[in-house]
Amino acid sequence: MIAALDSWNSPPQNLTLDINEIHVWRVSLAQTESCLQSLQQTLSTDERTKAERFHFPKGRSQFIVSRGALREILSRYLNINSHILRFDYNPYGKPSLIAAQGGNTLRFNLSHCREMALIAITKNRDIGVDIEGINPNFPCLEIAERFFSSLENTLLRSLPEHLQSTAFFTCWTRKEAYIKAVGKGLSIPLNQFDVSLAPGEPAALLNVEDNPEEASRWSLIELIPSSDMVATVAVAGDCSKLHCWQWTGEF
Ligand SMILES: CC(C)(COP(=O)(O)OP(=O)(O)OC[C@H]1O[C@@H](n2cnc3c(N)ncnc32)[C@H](O)[C@@H]1OP(=O)(O)O)[C@@H](O)C(=O)NCCC(=O)NCCS
Repeated sequence: MIAALDSWNSPPQNLTLDINEIHVWRVSLAQTESCLQSLQQTLSTDERTKAERFHFPKGRSQFIVSRGALREILSRYLNINSHILRFDYNPYGKPSLIAAQGGNTLRFNLSHCREMALIAITKNRDIGVDIEGINPNFPCLEIAERFFSSLENTLLRSLPEHLQSTAFFTCWTRKEAYIKAVGKGLSIPLNQFDVSLAPGEPAALLNVEDNPEEASRWSLIELIPSSDMVATVAVAGDCSKLHCWQWTGEF
């Protein structure tokens, strides 16, 4: 499945999330000062402390917008004020809602890059999302040697040079979305599983070393958030319905 650049729509007033649906929200991290202040007021003490630790004001305000937007979006599904929401973290840092606020039901994951964040939401299923900007000057083949599997390296090198950087960043988001969905971060060796990467090939987890059943447990979805960015959602099970919403910051 693929969500093209024109898939990002305004959300309906009455938002519902069916069991077989995935919602992905695109959030611009460049917001007005008044939006920033409103969002900051919804953050918890530990989130405000984390925001204060950013050295540069831009990093600080982007963290506030991404966390504040996450809270505002989750509050729409739960009908709870956004500042009341509380998060738990697994041992690898993956945030979830506390169980009393539906953490076992409403699942989410967040990724940010440059001035954009994506927030993926589903019910009862593990989910991960990753967004990256395509950098044509990045030493893709060298970095792929260090992090990608041997199959991925072979596939990448077989592509014409002008397609390699997009394929590299696409592959990167597929790998990151999968490890973020599992929630164990980089404790999962990145070179021990394969994802598809060739242009035009559907996003897929192809093989996981020593775990032949694993690949069929996950669906990967390709998202095009902007013309110079790539993104992937990984979700447990099948994905039959995907909605992509644009968060406006007006609430
Ligand atoms: C979380 C992780 C997996 C990805 O982080 P990242 O790509 O740098 O950043 P993203 O913007 O995509 O994701 C960060 C968000 O993921 C969430 N997150 C944190 N830990 C997580 C985990 N273990 N699993 C899932 N999500 C996690 C948080 O919401 C975090 O946002 P916050 O910092 O505002 O709270 C991180 O462990 C990491 O360091 N990745 C290394 C990147 C790398 O070397 N990749 C090689 C690619 S082939």
